[in-house]
Amino acid sequence: MAGAAKALGLDRLLLIPDKIPPHKALQASSATAEDRLEMTKLAAKNLENCTVSDMELRREGRSYTVDTLRILKEQYPRDELIFIMGSDMLMSFHTWREPKEILSLARIAAFPRMADDEMTHCGNTEAIRAYFGDRLTLMNIEPVEISSTRVRQLIPVGAGVEYLEGEVYDYILKKGLYRTAPATETLQQLRDFSYPCHKAKRVPHVQGCEKEAVKLCERWGGDENTVRRAAILHDITKALTYKEQLKMCERYDILTDSSEIGEEKLLHSITGAYVAEKVLRESENVVSCVRWHTTGKPDMNIEEKIVFMADYIEENRKFPGVDALRELAYKDLDAAIIYGLELTMDEIKERGRQVHGNSLAAYRFLKGNVQ
Ligand SMILES: [Fe+2]
Ligand SMILES: [Fe+2]
Repeated sequence: MAGAAKALGLDRLLLIPDKIPPHKALQASSATAEDRLEMTKLAAKNLENCTVSDMELRREGRSYTVDTLRILKEQYPRDELIFIMGSDMLMSFHTWREPKEILSLARIAAFPRMADDEMTHCGNTEAIRAYFGDRLTLMNIEPVEISSTRVRQLIPVGAGVEYLEGEVYDYILKKGLYRTAPATETLQQLRDFSYPCHKAKRVPHVQGCEKEAVKLCERWGGDENTVRRAAILHDITKALTYKEQLKMCERYDILTDSSEIGEEKLLHSITGAYVAEKVLRESENVVSCVRWHTTGKPDMNIEEKIVFMADYIEENRKFPGVDALRELAYKDLDAAIIYGLELTMDEIKERGRQVHGNSLAAYRFLKGNVQ
């Protein structure tokens, strides 16, 4: 917003948190209006010529832009009003309340959201140009590359802090907003915390992993609660981009060796273990199951082996050899892990990458123990 204000050369930037946005439903985990106002004030503190207004929060009912602009026009009759928004809103603008009236009250300035998002470029379509005419300015500034939805998805696991003002983040933590202080004692609470951290299509995998871990536990022993919790959490940071994971490692001093840093696929077991240990205060064994679920390691205990294997063979997994691996996992768990590691190592070599030392060490250890 500050970048947009600067690009437009505004005399004053007015930030107006809305009470009830007309175009989207607020989630149950959303902050209250008062908290959002406080956070906006904190974010605005260091911005030049910036004022935060609670005019929409004080108003009853839904927060329609047209109502706000009418009031502002009365307050500032001689000033030109510019309404700043993300370019992704341009497409639905005609569905807002009294869109033409909005355009007569204010000019629109749209900033790009994502570099690779086609919505970013939607402002340049003929239909949009025809609709808005000269009332629209498309700002040629760096895309913000982040949405509030995404930030809310990241902060429960301690990620995405780089997108927030320090004081805003401190406020969120202090008040435990946006699921940053979750209750996760019961399995259901843990699932409720975990699932929204994943991309929706990954949730069946997490569920399948828990189910498989329980079955393996019934067959081979081990602590059911531990494997369930580890399975629910094992991919908790998988939705983070590589860059976001690296930022997390940097921020929290998470130690990684260079081979892990270089492998995008491996990093999530390290950041995931951090979340299990530091954010959720899980037991050492749960943390360890999460930590080693991708590469394995020498001398794994039964719960670590079960989570490693459950991740590999849960019912949604489809790859050549998975049925044989499933069968083997219930006949000889160590042999199945060896087979699984062989498959992984072959796949890694095929991609021209180097097999991770931990996988190799796990493989060699088990080979020494299994005939
Ligand atoms: Fe994983
Ligand atoms: Fe997984």
